[in-house]
Amino acid sequence: MNIIKDQDVIIILKTMLNRLDDRLVDHGERVAYLCLELMRYMNVSEEEYLHVAKLALLHDIGAYKTEEVDALLSFESEDVWEHAIYGYLFLTKMSPLKKNADCVLYHHMSYERLMETDCSNKKIAALIHLCDRIDVSIKRGASLPSILHQEGQFDPIQVKAFEELNHDNRLIQRLENKSYQDKMNDLYQTIYLGEDERKGYLEMLAYSIDFRSEFTVLHTITTTAIAIELGKQYQLSSEELDKLFYAALLHDIGKGAIPISILEKQGKLNDEETKWMQRHVSITEEILNGYIQTDVLHMAARHHEKLDGSGYPHQLTDKELTLGDRIVAIADILSALLGKRSYKEKFSITKAISIIEEMAENEKIDREIVRVFADHHEDIMIQVEQNTKKMNQLYGDMLEHYQELKTMYWMNSVKV
Ligand SMILES: [Fe+2]
Ligand SMILES: [Fe+2]
Ligand SMILES: [Fe+2]
Repeated sequence: MNIIKDQDVIIILKTMLNRLDDRLVDHGERVAYLCLELMRYMNVSEEEYLHVAKLALLHDIGAYKTEEVDALLSFESEDVWEHAIYGYLFLTKMSPLKKNADCVLYHHMSYERLMETDCSNKKIAALIHLCDRIDVSIKRGASLPSILHQEGQFDPIQVKAFEELNHDNRLIQRLENKSYQDKMNDLYQTIYLGEDERKGYLEMLAYSIDFRSEFTVLHTITTTAIAIELGKQYQLSSEELDKLFYAALLHDIGKGAIPISILEKQGKLNDEETKWMQRHVSITEEILNGYIQTDVLHMAARHHEKLDGSGYPHQLTDKELTLGDRIVAIADILSALLGKRSYKEKFSITKAISIIEEMAENEKIDREIVRVFADHHEDIMIQVEQNTKKMNQLYGDMLEHYQELKTMYWMNSVKV
């Protein structure tokens, strides 16, 4: 049995985007729905249809990295390139959705300008742009006809198709009364991903959340590597190792809902900020609950619990915490100790070990696992270094491409 079902991967991605900002709730799904209706009307092939649905669903994923939500929900000519560039980079560098991912890069560009670019599929980019603006105008109560007929803004053929399809306000009503959700849920049931794609989407989700702050870039990849290596020391089966992998991968996805200013604050968080920060575990739990096997959900959402009951959010104690829960918790602590944070430098492996040994002494974390780590830390760290090196390269690569795209002449000269 799969640890996580294909349609649930899509639901987790969608729910995560909803947590970014209340005003963006269901925006990706609504845009995907409009794209689908229009494509069906224009007789697009089934294969392309599903691919575009995934791109449309995730078209604003770059908003994790930026704080552009205000701008991307407005119609004024503000600079909204950042999230489009990051969205494109996340999809193209980290997800199985590489084909036509550049449509996300262009999703705020006018049709006229789009025609001058070398976008790999201008029809899809224009379609996402049109459906995105339709949804934003509905959300803002703006007049649709005046939006649709702005000079050079949209593909006239797509606008005509939309107006025909929406002749008695049918499409808009389905969005407003939420009946479109049934259609989307039916569609999710038909999505087949397979193991690599399942992993690929969830890796993109976790790493794009880590990429929100330079201090957390290596956090998940390090946590995952340590958890797996500890699991191997315990000779866990491949299924159990897979569970550890997914739990460690997803343990901090709730951080996608925490403001970047808190993630990057220099110095100590005040009480209010600490409460906010601690909410990330409950958010991880809420997002995954019902969509992933329960033992994996526990391992992911219990990484801040302590054996003596002093942890959060549920103050569980050693009787309730399984080997998997304990491994992920220790891997998370080690990853934080070994990484640079806004409030501290990296600690050496010797210092990190002495800190976790003291925590084990104080009944906070599992002594036996701490001992296993201390005994095998050299081997474990080889794997950690290999993984983090790859991730560092990917992050550096992404920042470099980001600058290149941002300085391209049309990026600076084009208004949305
Ligand atoms: Fe956008
Ligand atoms: Fe955490
Ligand atoms: Fe963490």
